[in-house]
Amino acid sequence: MIALGCDHGGYELKQEIIAWLDKQGLAYKDYGCYSTESVDYPEYAHVVAHAVADGTCERGILICGTGIGISIAANKVKGIRAALCTDCFMAEATRQHNDANILALGGRVIGPGLALKIVETFLNTPFSGDERHMRRIAKIEE
Ligand code: RB5
Repeated sequence: MIALGCDHGGYELKQEIIAWLDKQGLAYKDYGCYSTESVDYPEYAHVVAHAVADGTCERGILICGTGIGISIAANKVKGIRAALCTDCFMAEATRQHNDANILALGGRVIGPGLALKIVETFLNTPFSGDERHMRRIAKIEE
């Protein structure tokens, strides 16, 4: 199960991602927001981050205008490794090296074509499991 969340700056891109997830037959839970009306991104970051941290969802995708505010807020929740990605290299590397559990995107930064490729890469790339990466991730939680 994938947890989705956005603010007004990410709403339109989230709709594109929802259409893509539907086409792929991938299960998701949409935690809002549900329109382009102005809202506060930390609220959506926190609800999605908690859904991932408590195991309700395996991964999350968060979108605001830049992807910055929503990733900063999500990373305040223990156990969350939210990665703001603007290309597929970053999405692949953050899964392999950081075992990132939330992908953050900027709806005002990238277009839907690239965003969907980033989502696909993020969802399909496994964590490497390498000892050095596990050691570094463990140090984040110290
Ligand atoms: C909202 O205008 C904007 O500040 C927000 O979407 C995000 O970019 C914050 O980091």
